[in-house]
Amino acid sequence: MTPAELIQRFTERRGAPGATASGVWRFREIVLPSADAVVSHPEGNTPLLHRVALDRWAGVDDLLFKHEGHNPTGSFKDRGMTVGVTQAKRIGAAAVACASTGNTAASLAAYASQAGLPALVLVPVDGVATGKLAQSLAYGAKTLLVRGDFDDCLRLVEEASMQLGVYLLNSINPFRIEGQKTVILELLQQLGWESPDWIVLPAGNLGNTAAFGKALREARQWGLISRLPRLAAVQAEGAAPFARSFAEDFAQRHRVKAETVATAIKIGNPASYDRAVQAIRETNGVVLSTSDQELLEAKAAIDASGVGCEPASAVSLAGLRQLVGTGVVKPSERVVAILTGHILKDPGILLRYHQETEPPPPGANRPIEIEATLGEVERVLRK
Ligand code: F0G
Repeated sequence: MTPAELIQRFTERRGAPGATASGVWRFREIVLPSADAVVSHPEGNTPLLHRVALDRWAGVDDLLFKHEGHNPTGSFKDRGMTVGVTQAKRIGAAAVACASTGNTAASLAAYASQAGLPALVLVPVDGVATGKLAQSLAYGAKTLLVRGDFDDCLRLVEEASMQLGVYLLNSINPFRIEGQKTVILELLQQLGWESPDWIVLPAGNLGNTAAFGKALREARQWGLISRLPRLAAVQAEGAAPFARSFAEDFAQRHRVKAETVATAIKIGNPASYDRAVQAIRETNGVVLSTSDQELLEAKAAIDASGVGCEPASAVSLAGLRQLVGTGVVKPSERVVAILTGHILKDPGILLRYHQETEPPPPGANRPIEIEATLGEVERVLRK
């Protein structure tokens, strides 16, 4: 098949009904060509957003956000999960399991219940955002609150999958990665198969960094694009073992005890390290980290622009501003930042920021309690 024929297929499927137009299965030739009965919500087809205020905030002329929070369970995880659960059905798995900081768990819970498979999710007892925990419970997964951190959960679920015979659906599962590649394929399709200069993404367990690298490599091999964009992977400062390795030209792998308000990426020993190194090397990419304060400021800017995202997603904007400040990214370059999760995933942090923090942070929007009279409304309006 020529690149033009493939592109035509992808274009035609866009308007088709059901799973055919899914932002994952539309690209089935590059994802899982042999799949027939797919478990699809459908997912993907997430928007590319532009806000002038955020161009200014980052210091670039033209910044696009690919908002993966528009997926069915509110994060990019659905792209990998539709493929992973499809594969679990194909091999006749009796049950599926994952360790998670919350989003993978929510996604697994939803897709497993759609597929009629029992699901087991292991999450750290402290620090899973309310929205994510609520989703896992609501979709019906057996939810284990592990007295430990994400890295403990991952170790435990790996042991469980080996000894108790449940099918493991963390991003070390290659089928998850195949699905997550479609963030990039869909983005390239939206851009008319013209690569941007940079793609900036949050990085935790490094599954997405690995998937993006693989997608770009394959898109070039298939002849869909001629030039690779550069990847910029951004971690939170207190959970930045990958950034530390990058600073040493990947001389060694690091493990840290992770600490950050961005609980989705509070990971000290990322599982997909090797594949992520390859992705950064092949794309002439960079890895950096931002402080919790910077990422919360970036989040407040994204939220106030009406776009909204969860805390971990905002490291992409905070990281971009840093890269512009140091001259690595030129203002005239075409940049796409990935927003990985929905604003409502973590309502707790929003209420703390806007309602409870003393003194109020710069972007705090305090609610005002009033008596039930028009006079009171008027008083507030005129203030
Ligand atoms: N952003 C969000 C919202 C996430 O939930 C995650 C990972 C990442 C970024 C980082 O992606 O791990 O591929 O580097 N969440 C996983 C989970 C760990 O369990 O939901 P990564």
